[in-house]
Amino acid sequence: MVAKKNLCVLILAGGQGTRMKSALPKVLHKICGAPLISHILREVSLLNPAGIGILTGHKSDFVKETIKENLSAWGITAPVEFMVQKNLTGSGTAVKDSLPFIKKYDQVLILAGDAPLITADVLQKLIDNHNTKQPACTVLSVIQPNPFGYGRIVKNEKGLFKEIVEEAHTDAKTAAIKEVNSGIYIFEVAPLTKALDKLTPQGPKQEYYLTDTLAMFDKTEVLSEQDYICAMGINSKAQLAQAQALMQERINKKHLDNGVIIINPSATYISAQAKIGQDTIIYPNTFIEGKTTIGQNCIVEPSCWITNSTILDNCHIKSGSYVEESELAANCQIGPYAHLRPKSVLKEKVKTGNFIEIKNSVIGEGSKVPHLTYIGDCQMGKNVNVGAGSITCNYDGKNKHQTIIGDNVFVGSNTNFVAPVKVADNAKIAAGSTITQDIPEGVLAIARNRQVNLDRKGKK
Ligand code: UD1
Ligand code: CA
Repeated sequence: MVAKKNLCVLILAGGQGTRMKSALPKVLHKICGAPLISHILREVSLLNPAGIGILTGHKSDFVKETIKENLSAWGITAPVEFMVQKNLTGSGTAVKDSLPFIKKYDQVLILAGDAPLITADVLQKLIDNHNTKQPACTVLSVIQPNPFGYGRIVKNEKGLFKEIVEEAHTDAKTAAIKEVNSGIYIFEVAPLTKALDKLTPQGPKQEYYLTDTLAMFDKTEVLSEQDYICAMGINSKAQLAQAQALMQERINKKHLDNGVIIINPSATYISAQAKIGQDTIIYPNTFIEGKTTIGQNCIVEPSCWITNSTILDNCHIKSGSYVEESELAANCQIGPYAHLRPKSVLKEKVKTGNFIEIKNSVIGEGSKVPHLTYIGDCQMGKNVNVGAGSITCNYDGKNKHQTIIGDNVFVGSNTNFVAPVKVADNAKIAAGSTITQDIPEGVLAIARNRQVNLDRKGKK
């Protein structure tokens, strides 16, 4: 193989995406819980290119800021540079406006920001093929059963690349060609720069087609990829839904191959970043989003939503639970219908039951918060039992305050903790108490009125 040249990646995300019929720029639409462009960034990062550039145009600032803010959440650590296309006059102009970036490198791998199913493996094949054959450009083609909308790859009598004919320019003969342009190519930068200058506006919208440059080179290679799905471009909401299903199938297959049990893969939604351990069972209608890790032998019952959370082995997440940015140590049980809001940390063997909400709190090992309870801004020790209907009153209307609860505390049902307040180890709280003062170790705190039984005349 020829020595690797200095390669950069350019992702085109300038287009208006009119066919999406949406206020949201196309590349920010999501499949499997993450924007289209994030899937492409993840795969191209695996190639370790010398640089990654993104060209924005339509709603440029919004697209750029959204991408920048989320790079680390998407797991992208490589630096990304941004270019802006001022006149949205086609993919040719888009690349021309990116020249200040591209010219710093020998080669550029160009991808469309609306084709999220591409994989690093296929891109590596394209790069290797190009470096072996050394043309000015290698285009990735696929055989599309339904080629409508794609540029058709036209070859000469010797079977070599001749030109790409865009949909608007097809005649009966070219329209029937099923080998299409994926919108993914690798170019040598020097000939590409020259060719871009020669483009002329084409078609009903008078666009400058990047695809016209390919016929200007002495040698253009076509690498045909069998898995046509990897080149699917998204131009409409129907295609977005299709791509969602295809990507989900791909992700779920990976987990099934790794030994995860997914009861109904077509109704289970797992992000590309999620990691799940062997023999964990995922029931249908469950969403596992973002950077979530789930250990081995867990059970995730139907209709749970888990985002950016870490769940260790042998946990049981019961139906209808919603878990955001939280950590569960091994052997925890939550739900049904538990809501763990950000920064909830459950230590080993914690048990929560139904209709509980926990936020920014640590629940110590073996503690139980079984029924109808709100725990916010609380540090709870080990083996605490919280009775039904208990609440941390953490907000005084202006500020949030902490509730500190020691080990082995017994909290009677319907207790209110008016924070800031501290309960020392081994204390007991009588049911119905409103705790406004710290409780020393080992005592029984009662903070409620005594019951009075009156006769019909109101006498004791
Ligand atoms: C394009 C290709 C077509 C290919 C198909 C694969 C051209 C002329 N045609 O068609 O051969 O089969 O992709 O999916 O390139 N863009 C800009 N600025 C613009 C216009 C487009 O940045 O002014 C970007 C878009 O954001 C998109 C990409 O270029 O990421 C392709 O544009 P799009 O309008 O989707 O082209 P297609 O009609 O799909
Ligand atoms: Ca497209």
